[in-house]
Amino acid sequence: MIIEDVTLLSTERAYDGGYVSWFQAPRLSARKTPGQFVMVHCSQERTDPMFARAFSYYRVDGDRFAILYNVVGRGTTWLAAQPAGTVVRMYGPLGNGVRLPRDPSNVLLVGGGVGIAPLMDVAEVALKKGHQVVAMMGARSSAQLLDAGAWPREVEYIVVTEDGSAGAKGFVTEQLGEYQQWASRIYACGPNPMFASLANTLRNNGRRQRPEILMEENMPCGWGMCYGCAIFTKHGVRLCCKDGPRFNLFDVY
Ligand SMILES: Cc1cc2nc3c(=O)[nH]c(=O)nc-3n(C[C@H](O)[C@H](O)[C@H](O)COP(=O)(O)OP(=O)(O)OC[C@H]3O[C@@H](n4cnc5c(N)ncnc54)[C@H](O)[C@@H]3O)c2cc1C
Ligand code: FES
Repeated sequence: MIIEDVTLLSTERAYDGGYVSWFQAPRLSARKTPGQFVMVHCSQERTDPMFARAFSYYRVDGDRFAILYNVVGRGTTWLAAQPAGTVVRMYGPLGNGVRLPRDPSNVLLVGGGVGIAPLMDVAEVALKKGHQVVAMMGARSSAQLLDAGAWPREVEYIVVTEDGSAGAKGFVTEQLGEYQQWASRIYACGPNPMFASLANTLRNNGRRQRPEILMEENMPCGWGMCYGCAIFTKHGVRLCCKDGPRFNLFDVY
């Protein structure tokens, strides 16, 4: 695990309440697999809030990386308000990322809300490995959607909104349509009810896609010390930070 004082390069609005921050971080940018995360101290003194916050790698570019985050509380409010040049302490890369297949495959990404963050990194790495990528993002309305221009042009990007203000109306897991059969691998990140719904959709489709999910639990430490992120799986209790955050969908749901 690397502890690094990184420099904030920029913060830009991605959608309503969502921001992308880029950091100059030569050591932390060398993450091993997409789906890993970093712990970010969201204050200068690192005392309030005391615990660092977990954020997925959203993009990695040389010795810089970005996170995509929703402003929901103290840490993210602080982060979004910092000017370029602010030095932020982080540690990582942590957790187990997704396992991409060796042979060229059809990769379907299913993201709910800010759960789309790690899937951008998955998409970029998957494209480099020669996979075809379709990314489906579900949000409450068009105001919370990532812009199509954020994606590499090789990615087919499909949006679903609960209010029907963009794309199909409903939940993203109910709109997989033909992509459910097209996909040879599926990776998802979002809120827990989304995973339950995805499991219901995929359970009987006759395909062996081995869907992998990136789970989020409150993570006080991020590296297996506090047991604050325990989750129940069909094989017993697991730590989301150390055993995950990647799990097989059907091991949990
Ligand atoms: C492995 C992992 C990866 C993550 N990756 C990302 C990421 O890429 N982008 C991102 O935005 N978040 C991500 N999160 C969640 C992120 O860590 C929390 O959003 C963050 O801790 C909130 O910190 P805060 O101090 O702003 O909010 P807090 O002050 O801790 O919380 C304030 C309030 O917001 C609520 N809250 C906290 N988190 C969320 C949430 N995610 N959604 C809605 N309400 C919430 C709390 O219940 C509380 O009521 C990830 C979490 C994990 C475990
Ligand atoms: S966050 Fe402390 S053990 Fe997982």
